[in-house]
Amino acid sequence: MSMNATISRLKQGGGVIDRYREFLPVSDSTPIVSLGEGNTPLVYLAKLSARVGRGCEVFVKNEGVNPTGSFKDRGMTVAVSKALERKARALICASTGNTSASAAAYAARAGMPCAVILPAGKIASGKLLQAFVHGAKIIAIDGNFDDALRIVRELGERDDFVIVNSINPDRIAGQKTAAFEIVDLLNEAPDFHLLPLGNAGNMTAYWAGYREYRGRERSTKLPAMIGFQAVGAAPIYHNKVVEKPETIASAIRIGNPANWKQATAAISESIGAVDVVSDEEILDAQIWLAQNEGVFVEPASAASIAGLFKCCDSKSAAYSFQEIPDASRIVCTVTGHGLKDPDVILRRVEELKPVTAKIDNVRRAIGS
Ligand code: F0G
Repeated sequence: MSMNATISRLKQGGGVIDRYREFLPVSDSTPIVSLGEGNTPLVYLAKLSARVGRGCEVFVKNEGVNPTGSFKDRGMTVAVSKALERKARALICASTGNTSASAAAYAARAGMPCAVILPAGKIASGKLLQAFVHGAKIIAIDGNFDDALRIVRELGERDDFVIVNSINPDRIAGQKTAAFEIVDLLNEAPDFHLLPLGNAGNMTAYWAGYREYRGRERSTKLPAMIGFQAVGAAPIYHNKVVEKPETIASAIRIGNPANWKQATAAISESIGAVDVVSDEEILDAQIWLAQNEGVFVEPASAASIAGLFKCCDSKSAAYSFQEIPDASRIVCTVTGHGLKDPDVILRRVEELKPVTAKIDNVRRAIGS
């Protein structure tokens, strides 16, 4: 590529719209708002693969390395570019944290005002900091995510706001690119795709992406889609709205998912499953992944890893990996970076006591 072509691509952000333009709802006249999102690592996990056994291969799609630290950026680049093209007055979203962080960053880049409606006291500190630093108007409500989304829907109807939640099809279109990247790298779709389920936009997007790619003959098969909810916030698992969802994984603390029907369709069409994992299993999986594979994810993301353990080990799992074909390929999406939500782990770090600055004391503290 010539230097001029490289610079012109860099000026467009060099992200998912640049790489997957033909699959996205953009034209030459769409102004591209990008931070170079996507192209995230697909990391092979030797220890998890051994845990599944029989030659199966496990990968994580590490979405925490996106520009604002979560998968939301893939959808936000498309949603904000389209909002700018339509000359929208302002952006708005409800959020459990990551959508607001991403919307705030892309709105700043686009030069558009952005309002984020958040459940008060329930947003992980890193995410709140992000929305703040990028200059979004933060409104904390005395209610949960579902209440926030209801208000946002009403404001979107009455006012000049463009809603950048996953009810906006441009968000789903952008998020499809994660499935494209996996197939491009593996030259085939995986056999199983595991991911956390909150508002269920990501499950909807991956399924659309896998189907679209198979339609274009980039793959010959489709994965079974397996979603995991937290025990205290599991409306899809129970097929019932949860009025007061509760979980340590605040990103998926949702009782009435907007993409409920689409996720249920993806699960049944793909012959997949939905299951639940407890807060304890989520936190254990988060630490396991950090200490055994070097990947630090936020609690909601660890739900897919906790889910994988459950599929391997538990008789009560909705999907048993004991019966899957040998040499199956499994991809788990880890959706957000661990540094966004440090509070639970910080409490343990704060228990560390200083040691006097003497070599013998330090040696003793190391335990050598
Ligand atoms: N993981 C993380 C880290 C998330 O932030 C979310 C959703 C999910 C998983 C679930 O994805 O909603 O597409 O099923 N976060 C939204 C937000 C709701 O407002 O940031 P989903």
